[in-house]
Amino acid sequence: MNHATRTRIDLMTDQPNQSSAAPTVGQLFDLSGRVAMITGARGHLGRSMADALAEAGARVVATSRDAEAARSTAAELGGAEAGRHVGVGLDHLDPASIDDGFDTAVRLAGAVDILVNNGHQPIGADWTTVDGDQFQRQLANLTGYFLLARRLHDHAVDRQAAANVILLGSMYGVVGSYPEVYQGICAASPAAYHALKGGIIHLTRHLAVSWAADRVRVNCLSPGPFPGPQAPAELVARLREKSPLRRMGAAHELKGAVVFLASDASSYVTGQNLLVDGGWTAW
Ligand SMILES: NC(=O)c1ccc[n+]([C@@H]2O[C@H](COP(=O)([O-])OP(=O)(O)OC[C@H]3O[C@@H](n4cnc5c(N)ncnc54)[C@H](OP(=O)(O)O)[C@@H]3O)[C@@H](O)[C@H]2O)c1
Repeated sequence: MNHATRTRIDLMTDQPNQSSAAPTVGQLFDLSGRVAMITGARGHLGRSMADALAEAGARVVATSRDAEAARSTAAELGGAEAGRHVGVGLDHLDPASIDDGFDTAVRLAGAVDILVNNGHQPIGADWTTVDGDQFQRQLANLTGYFLLARRLHDHAVDRQAAANVILLGSMYGVVGSYPEVYQGICAASPAAYHALKGGIIHLTRHLAVSWAADRVRVNCLSPGPFPGPQAPAELVARLREKSPLRRMGAAHELKGAVVFLASDASSYVTGQNLLVDGGWTAW
């Protein structure tokens, strides 16, 4: 029996396995034998987290709204399952696409053990201009996260297996933004985004307690400032001043956190919000 099989059986008993040797750190973080689905996998942070899951040994289901782009991303991923990762089209604002995308993932990969709800459809309008439809559409990202997570939960119950959901929150789900950071450069961080991310962090807690008995863990991973290459330099400079570490996060700095939450290294962690923010929320 390899250790991936053994740790899964440990999870099946719901009890710490006292009779066998405690797993090593390497075994705890090993995702061999698991299938990890990540939405928005070709995005700035999504790609880095998809790389991390693959490098930790998982077979990755990479999604994009563009199925062809999802397949190209999957083909680029490494790790022990290189060449066996799969790409699936999925738009989480469309319930039919969520169902179709999840069914396709199960058909192509055999099962799904881990879901990283990472994709995000942005909104340009801040509190000064946003209309009701735009606000509701931003919140629909949360509906999509929930519907997809519920598919994984039901799938896990059907196959009598443990499962693991990670929702992407944000430091802006915990604190307000500094209006002066955005002034004269771009619209302030949108009110609807703050409502969305706060909702995701709290949904995490509710799903975690609702699904714990089914051995489905649910956690939130909240990045701080990780501006992509297109972010205006002046905005980045102002954000840097607000960070205790005086720098922005690099995409690879989420790799450890996502593998921790996805793996047995966090087997006794559920309902939590892990902030990876360079100390932003610690001031
Ligand atoms: N970057 C940061 O500083 C930061 C900070 C805090 C939180 N976050 C969170 O981290 C996550 C990733 O952010 P990011 O910076 O990597 O953003 P990003 O580069 O814009 O990537 C987001 C991805 O989401 C996908 N997407 C857009 N609409 C979608 C939809 N309707 N259904 C499914 N997928 C959709 C897009 O992929 P396709 O075009 O391929 O579909 C896009 O590549 C988001 O949840 C974001 O809110 C980011």
